[in-house]
Amino acid sequence: MNRRAVIVGTGSALPPRRVTNAELAERVQTSHEWIVERTGIEARHIAGDGETTATLATEAARKALDAAGVAADQVGLIVLATATPDQTFPASATRVQTALGIDDCIAFDVAAVCTGFLYALSVADNMVKGGMADYALVIGSETFSRILDWDDRATCVLFGDGAGAVLLHAEEAQDKGVLATRLHADGRHNDLLYVDGGVSTTGTVGKLRMKGKEVFRHAVVNLADVLNEVLAAAGHRSDEVDWVVPHQANKRILDATARKLGLDPARVIVTVDQHANTSAASVPLALDTAVRDGRIKAGDLIVLEAMGGGFTWGAAVVRY
Ligand code: UT7
Repeated sequence: MNRRAVIVGTGSALPPRRVTNAELAERVQTSHEWIVERTGIEARHIAGDGETTATLATEAARKALDAAGVAADQVGLIVLATATPDQTFPASATRVQTALGIDDCIAFDVAAVCTGFLYALSVADNMVKGGMADYALVIGSETFSRILDWDDRATCVLFGDGAGAVLLHAEEAQDKGVLATRLHADGRHNDLLYVDGGVSTTGTVGKLRMKGKEVFRHAVVNLADVLNEVLAAAGHRSDEVDWVVPHQANKRILDATARKLGLDPARVIVTVDQHANTSAASVPLALDTAVRDGRIKAGDLIVLEAMGGGFTWGAAVVRY
C-alpha cells in the first residue's frame, strides 16, 4: 500500500451568460457553420460584471467539497491553475481560501495556461503523497474573455470562461487515485500562443495572440506522445482506458489524438461544443460533467491530458 491522492469530489462553474456562434457572427466576419466545422464549438459562457476567476473557482470548489461531504476547514492545500488571475498578486487561490472561510492552509496559483490543471494536479499529488496535506483542492479557473481581442475572428470565437475543481484526499491505496503524471514544456514555441502584454514588459494586461495552424500541428504530436508516456509510467495499455478527459481546444484535435492512439472516440469526453476552450478549466470542467452525468464511475481508469501556451503539455492516469 502507498499513500495516494484520491479524487473524492468534483465540481464546476459556468457564468450564466451563454454566447452562441450566431451572436459572435454579428460582431466579426464569421459564421456558425465555419466555427462548427473547424472547431466543433457551438457556444461558450462569458463572465459578467462581478464574475471573476476567483468567484468561479470558489463555486466549483464548493461543489467539489459538497460532492465529497467534506467541510472546507479540512482543506490543507489549494492549488489554482490560471492564466487570468483576479490581480497580479496576491494569488487568486488566497481569495478562494477566504471565500471558503478557511483560516489557514497552503494556497498558491500555477501558471501553465491550458496545461495548468495538469501541472496543478501533479504538484498537489506530490504534496499530498509527501504528507503536506490530507485534503487538497485542485482548481482550474479562467476568464479568457477578458484577454481576447474581440475584433480578431481567428481567436475570439475559440475561447470561453469557467472553472472546474477536484478534491484530493490522502488514502492508503494501491490501484486508486492519481497513478502517474507527466509534464513537459518547450519555451522555443513561446511566439505561437501568447499574450502581447505583461506586468514587467508593457505594463498592460495585453491580448491573446495565436498562430492556430502551428499550434494544432504540435498539439496532436505532443498529446499522443505524452499519453503513451504516462500510460507506460502507470503500467497500463490504451485499450484498458475507460475514459479520456482531454483539454477541450478543438474537436478535430480530440479526434486526431484518439485516432493516433487507437482509442475509441466514444470513450472521449467532449464538452468543447458547449464550453469552447476554457484553458486551465477545461479538463476539470469536462471531468465534472462526465462524473455528474454518470459516465465516469468509481473504479474507472481515466486519462487526463492538455497542451497549451509555452508550449506546455502534460497528462495524468487516474483510477477514479
Ligand atoms: O488551447 C491551446 C491550444 N490551442 C489549440 O489547440 C488551437 C489549435 N488550432 C486550431 O484549433 C485551429 O488551427 C483553428 C480553429 C484556430 C483554425 O482552424 P484552421 O483550419 O487551422 O484554419 P486557418 O487558421 O488555416 O484559417 C483558414 C481560413 C483563413 O482564411 P484564408 O487565409 O484561407 O482566406 C482564415 O482567415 O479561415 C479564416 N478564418 C475564419 N473564417 C471564418 C479564421 N478564423 C475564422 C472565423 N470565421 N472565425
